[in-house]
Amino acid sequence: MENPLHRRHAVTVGPARIGIFDSGVGGLTVLREIYRQLPNESVLYFGDTARLPYGARSPEEILYFVRQILTWMASQNVKMVMMACNTSSALALDAVQPEFPFPVLGLIRPGAQAAARLSQRIGVIATQATVDSGAYPDAIYELAPGSQVWQVSCPKFVPLVESNQIQQPQARQIAETYLQPLMAARIDTLIYGCTHYPHLAPVLKTILPASTRYIDPAVSMVAAAAQELDALGLRSTSPAWSTEFCVSGPAPGFKRLAVQWLGHQPQVSQIRLPELTVKPVS
Ligand code: DGL
Repeated sequence: MENPLHRRHAVTVGPARIGIFDSGVGGLTVLREIYRQLPNESVLYFGDTARLPYGARSPEEILYFVRQILTWMASQNVKMVMMACNTSSALALDAVQPEFPFPVLGLIRPGAQAAARLSQRIGVIATQATVDSGAYPDAIYELAPGSQVWQVSCPKFVPLVESNQIQQPQARQIAETYLQPLMAARIDTLIYGCTHYPHLAPVLKTILPASTRYIDPAVSMVAAAAQELDALGLRSTSPAWSTEFCVSGPAPGFKRLAVQWLGHQPQVSQIRLPELTVKPVS
């Protein structure tokens, strides 16, 4: 029998969309920014929930996952892809940008630029893979050689967000431990170097001094995307279609979790990404 999911994905319907992807619900913080800055754009959202967290993956695995996602998105009528995932941006952006026929944008440079404009004492909280890549310090030192950057990896944050435990007391204890070295370094600006972390802003803001400035790289990435869409004559002028949500893991879990940030129950489909012939080295 024909699978209705396949049919829906095989037929090109509606306007060309912007594809965004993350390992899970972190990308919703980027989606929120797209709704704010690009309200006429239709969006295809993919969450690789079967394989999260990306932060504990090897660079080879992350590159393979990103290639799979972009290959699938290429078959879904996308005109641009924004990586709604810092880990993918840090590890895979440069490799995949020339491989696909649409613009692919990442979060690192826009985030580094926004921070370097504001401060010389910058803290970065990110996944282990992003911290290990050195992508943020490299980008910031290139833009502002006199600045100082301190990074902390926060491997417990993504599981906290994905298991919906950010209101629990242990979330605050974990955050205090992670932020301690940044407070000791007297940072005045903090980059959310993982798209899951703005979901924890209510907790983080009660720990760091009130004068701390927060950089959500999504704000600058989406602004850059708007400019690129204009430059390419690709900006939509008609109202957006509702966002299509696809995940690699079971749909109900994502649906239950996402409702608190979206304000409504999204329609979510589970899809299978294409296997590619080049496998990651593990
Ligand atoms: N939200 C993603 C990021 O910005 C991935 C987090 C993870 O899966 O570890 O890095």
